[in-house]
Amino acid sequence: MDFHHFHCMPTFAAKLIRWQKLHGRNHLPWQNTRDPYAIWVSEIMLQQTQVITVVPYYLRFLQCFPDIKSLATASVDEVLALWSGLGYYSRGRNLHRAACFIAEAHNGIFPRDIEVIQELPGIGRSTAAAIAAFAYGERRAILDGNVKRVFARCFGIDGYPGKKRNETLLWQKAEELLPEENKRGEMERYTQALMDLGATVCTRGKPRCVACPLQQDCIALRDNRVDKLPAPRPIRPRPQKETVLLMLMKQGEVLLEKRPASGIWGGLWCLPEMPVSKNVIAYCTLHFGMKVMPLAHMPPLDHAFTHFRLRIHPRPLQVLSYPSATETQAQDDAMWITLDNALKVAIPAPVRKLLMQHGCPQSGQLPLENQLRF
Ligand code: ADE
Ligand code: SF4
Repeated sequence: MDFHHFHCMPTFAAKLIRWQKLHGRNHLPWQNTRDPYAIWVSEIMLQQTQVITVVPYYLRFLQCFPDIKSLATASVDEVLALWSGLGYYSRGRNLHRAACFIAEAHNGIFPRDIEVIQELPGIGRSTAAAIAAFAYGERRAILDGNVKRVFARCFGIDGYPGKKRNETLLWQKAEELLPEENKRGEMERYTQALMDLGATVCTRGKPRCVACPLQQDCIALRDNRVDKLPAPRPIRPRPQKETVLLMLMKQGEVLLEKRPASGIWGGLWCLPEMPVSKNVIAYCTLHFGMKVMPLAHMPPLDHAFTHFRLRIHPRPLQVLSYPSATETQAQDDAMWITLDNALKVAIPAPVRKLLMQHGCPQSGQLPLENQLRF
């Protein structure tokens, strides 16, 4: 863009658009497409996961499920297996549910109307807007965590951005700042610019204000309050709970149980859980009819949930004997599985960590051919 033709200072949007052309990310695998399905998948994966992690998962996912129909006809377990390692599996579940709904109700065609898009499971206001901007060039405001940080700093907005009142203010700001006229390609670039600035320049830890297109306007930089904004989430004391996870090992295989659909780790494969108050050896005898022997000690692992923290005490155990009934009995909710294969199914992040510590540290990653770099 050539600013000599303007009689005023370039707007916020114009600065970002110019910056994005020169310094933004323009070759990510979900860019340069108008396929709303491909864009949707990418936005869901990128909700809680960084670009570098998402890329190989995204490529593999689109290879296996190139369109809505193929995703809708897959089983949820197949989808979750591809999600294994990305975490936040409800994203994968919602994606699958939404694909089934679109296949049924919309003849497999991704909806064009943002009101309809926003009603799909897993899609909120910001994700719907991002899809509408990238797929249809619509003039819609996004406001994800990164964008909240940029706005909070640039406009000196105090208070925790997640608080309803502040969030409303930030949405207003986001709407106001949209490019005025929608020239071809501007909304896509502006939307990407906000994401890119938040991810590569106005980062949480060490923002590179010297490289920022907003440095002349930035209130936080002017007032030397960059490290004070955005205000952190108010700390509410989260109770700590403790539990024991049994790592029952038999001929190189570990026992996994499917969690009940509700509660923590709902529907995921998990190590058997046991109350801390009980005796491990006695519990295994009573519960599984197994004779076990403790293996090398593993340190406890802390995991944070939204409403509590969980201290996990892993108990690696060698199975010495087990009733042959457990071998023959067909069970849907329990399986013996090699450590390698366990890392390929939908397991909670802390269980993944434990299995990797215990066994094969290299295999928590995707196959090498999928390890692309950007
Ligand atoms: N985060 C969310 N959406 C993104 C996108 N399209 N590109 C890069 N990072 C993102
Ligand atoms: Fe963020 Fe610094 Fe740019 Fe302000 S000047 S928006 S703090 S990177």
